[in-house]
Order: sequence, then structure tokens, then C-alpha cells
Amino acid sequence: MIEKRLGILTSGGDAPGMNAALRAATMVSLDRGWHVYGIEHGYRGLIQGEMQRLEAVDVESLLREGGTTLGTARCAEFTQLEGRDTARARLAEARIEALLVIGGNGSLAGARALADPAELGDQILRVVGVPASIDNDIGLTSMAIGVDTAMNTIVDACDKIADTATAHDRAFIVEVMGRDCGYLAMASSVAAGADVVLFRESGKSDAQIVHEVTDAIIEAHGRRHRRRVLIVKSEGTRLSTDDLKARVDAAIEARGKLIETRVTVLGHVVRGGRPSAFDRVMASRLGHVGVRALIDGETLRMVAWQPSGTLPASAIRSAVDPRCYLVDLEDVLRETRAMLDGSSPVIQWRAKVFDEIESVLRL
Ligand code: F6P
Repeated sequence: MIEKRLGILTSGGDAPGMNAALRAATMVSLDRGWHVYGIEHGYRGLIQGEMQRLEAVDVESLLREGGTTLGTARCAEFTQLEGRDTARARLAEARIEALLVIGGNGSLAGARALADPAELGDQILRVVGVPASIDNDIGLTSMAIGVDTAMNTIVDACDKIADTATAHDRAFIVEVMGRDCGYLAMASSVAAGADVVLFRESGKSDAQIVHEVTDAIIEAHGRRHRRRVLIVKSEGTRLSTDDLKARVDAAIEARGKLIETRVTVLGHVVRGGRPSAFDRVMASRLGHVGVRALIDGETLRMVAWQPSGTLPASAIRSAVDPRCYLVDLEDVLRETRAMLDGSSPVIQWRAKVFDEIESVLRL
């Protein structure tokens, strides 16, 4: 009997829960009689032929591990046809006919290009994507692997900052990751009880942002019960955090007040740590559905977690997990672009909600 071979790679920024997805996908594939190959360092490793056979023993303890044991990379070479041709040749040499790509936007765009029938020719290669990015900026899935853990890390950091901020009656600007997407800042601002949340999608001018933050700080200091002020700022906000602090400090002084501000940039801390229980469960379920889809002959799909709103005609509910849908990668990439340029209803809805609750946060 000809052995069936499936490859798995993680690509782009690592996200807590990638290992849980790898573990589940490997276990399910082995259970179905497939041989599994772990490809190291994403598309870069694929081009260089870095892969090794995985057995249950290699993945069984991965559930609670952060990062990605396969390693990851951002690979410029893969954006070129030549790079993708080499990657396809590597897969053909290894007789891998199905590939699970666990990653974010760029990785899913890469998956789409890799299995593009126009580039594939006669080669048999099916590709399915699993959304993983702390940014939650991937179209047609309500959540991606890593978002929940990142949110918990931010909230934990904000709680700690709140202790020292309260002790000193200070205002803190906490900058969080998320690239161009404000989701992490928005969601964690609610969970951390922030006074103001700043994100690119609001479309506010720099002057408006400075005014809003200054007002919030001065108002809060006028109230006896509020001894700390917390501003959560998404890294994608156009006004840089250093400029914001400098301009707010100047505005506070100009209004005759003496209030100290401090900045904390959480940076890559937000991407690390053991995955939350939710991320472990969701990643395992997405990984399970992803390989089941590949084994069943699906290609050019992404497994989405509980998508909401209007779904494209391509979306089908997974027969093996009611929370998961299979959506065309093409539709995912289109919606992802719309999220970035602001034309997506999801982004408009998020911006509107935060516009409405802005004054409530400051109470
Ligand atoms: O996409 C995930 C992410 O962590 C973003 O939030 C951030 O802007 C970016 O990756 C950082 O990338 P790098 O680790 O390559 O500096």
C-alpha cells in the first residue's frame, strides 16, 4: 500500500497555541494512518527541505508549550514564483500530498499561492490553513490561535501596572502589539478597565487623540476615587507612543496641572507564554478539523472558528465540529484586505462600538 504523507508547518509570527494545533493535527493524522512530516521554520524551511517525520511521542507533551516547536520564519523568497516552485519540488520529493499551514495573514496568502492550480501544474498538493496570529486580523474567523492568551497577558500586565500607577497617582500609556489591527487593545481595554483605548481603525487625528487622552487624565485626577489612569494604545495607532506622551505632558502642563505620565511598551511579551485553556482547546479543534479536511480531499480552504455575520457562499460547516467552518482561502484573503482598509463591516462595527462606549470607559 502506498503510504500517505501529510506535512505541517507554522509560519509568520508565533502564537501561543500553535503547538496545540500541531499536536492535535499530528495525532489525528496518525490515527487515520497517515505519515506526518513536521516542516521547520515555515516556508523558509520548506524551501530548504528542513523536515522530519513526527510520531505521537514527538508531540504528546506540546499542549502547554508556548511559541512553536517547529520554529517559524517570515520568508521573502516565498513571495516569488521561484521560491514557491522550489517549495513545491521539495514537497514532491518527499511525496507529501497534503499540507497544513498554521499561521496568519501572510502565511495564508502563501498557502493560497502554493496550491494555486495555475502554478501547480500536474503536481498533487492540497493545502488547508489554520488561523494563528495574536493580532486577530484574519478575515472570516471570529478568533485566531493566540489571541486569547495574548489578551490575558496584556490584562495581567495592566493589572500589575495599575498597582504602581495607583500608588503614585500616575497615568500610564500601555502600548500593545496587534500590528494594524486594534482588536487586542480594544478587548483588553475592557477587561483591564482602561480609561481610554487608542487604535488605528478609529480614524481619529493626532490632535483628537492628544486632546482625548489629556482630558481623560485631568478629569480622572479630579475625582477622588480614581487614582490611576490607564490608556491602552494599539501599536498600529499612527501617532507614536513617544510623541503621544510628549504632547500629552505638554498639554497637561499648559493646563496648569502636575500629573506624571509613564509609558510601558509590552512588545513581544504579548506573544509569549503558555497558551490559555481556551487557546489549547480552540487550537486542538482547528487542527483536528484542518487535517480531517485535508484527508477528505479539501484544498485551498481555511478552518474558521465560529464566523459571524454574512458568510460567503463558499463557507460550509464542518461535519466533525459544529464550531468550525471551512471557508475558501480566496474569500479569507479578500475579507482580510477589507479589514485592513476599513471597508469590512466587522471593522466598522468594532469602531462604532468603541465610539459609543468611549465616555463610559472614563466614568
Ligand atoms: O503579527 C504578529 C505580531 O506580533 C504583530 O503584533 C507585531 O506587529 C509583529 O508580529 C512583530 O513582528 P516581529 O516579531 O517580526 O518583529
